[in-house]
Amino acid sequence: MIFVRNLSYVYKSPKEEIKALDNVNLEIKKGEWLTVIGPNGSGKSTLARHFNALLIPTIGSVIVDGKDTSDPQLIPKIRQKVAFVFQNPDNQLVATTVEEDIAFGPENLGIASDEIVKRVQDALQVTGMAEHQKAAPHLLSGGQKQRVAIAGALAMHPEYLVMDEATAMLDPQGRREVLATLSRLNKELGLTVIYITHFMEEAVLAHRIAVMNKGRVFFIGSPREVFSRVKDLEAVGLDVPDIAVIASKLKEKGYINQSGIITIDEMVNALCRLK
Ligand SMILES: Nc1ncnc2c1ncn2[C@@H]1O[C@H](COP(=O)(O)OP(=O)(O)OP(=O)(O)O)[C@@H](O)[C@H]1O
Ligand SMILES: [Mg+2]
Repeated sequence: MIFVRNLSYVYKSPKEEIKALDNVNLEIKKGEWLTVIGPNGSGKSTLARHFNALLIPTIGSVIVDGKDTSDPQLIPKIRQKVAFVFQNPDNQLVATTVEEDIAFGPENLGIASDEIVKRVQDALQVTGMAEHQKAAPHLLSGGQKQRVAIAGALAMHPEYLVMDEATAMLDPQGRREVLATLSRLNKELGLTVIYITHFMEEAVLAHRIAVMNKGRVFFIGSPREVFSRVKDLEAVGLDVPDIAVIASKLKEKGYINQSGIITIDEMVNALCRLK
């Protein structure tokens, strides 16, 4: 579990202070897929950076499996548990071959070399990158690069994977590849996924969605609960999946009576029932 308790965070510079998080409370369960959405500047990345102690609370606390991120002695253990994948894969790939890149993290943890070989092989398999083992990372497609970055994170054997808009630079095909990989890891290995995105269609995949606004958790719930609140989401400047908007308008006009429609299949079923 990750417990976020009364978390506020202030960026301080000689010129100004910016309160990026304002009394956030949140619990992330083991094995859960939590998606975080919210407008630009709402504090998503600032929150995410607290999960692996890249940032330490100004006020309040973040506890990862019982370990307080504000205790410097616990930070290496916390970083082992919580891996982070950033937006731009080019900034995360460091080595000249895919396999060396994936080995980089575990090497830094001081893992024995035969164990590293095994972890690299596993991570290559899981992310579907085995055939590119010897490839130069910079020659791969965006989706493939991001899968290498995920493989590198997985080779650390994390329990939590934080994706901070990690698919933002990919084309739809690349995004689908990464999502399919993560979805499998979440279902099959119980990897906890904390997924920050601007793409509402991606958010539908989550167990729960947290909506951030102005440094606070504006609301949190299942995708169905969240995307049923079309007006609230629009009020904070967020898009809603097209299907949810159409469903809400059809319901408003009395054509359908089902609420909480968020997928195309659900819409088709609701419309077919009208006959
Ligand atoms: N390094 C920094 N120094 C000062 N202020 C910062 C810094 N990083 C973020 N901020 C400010 O903190 C607030 C929250 O920013 P944050 O990056 O967490 O938002 P976000 O929801 O991730 O936005 P985006 O959707 O653009 O990625 C914003 O007002 C931002 O300008
Ligand atoms: Mg951000």
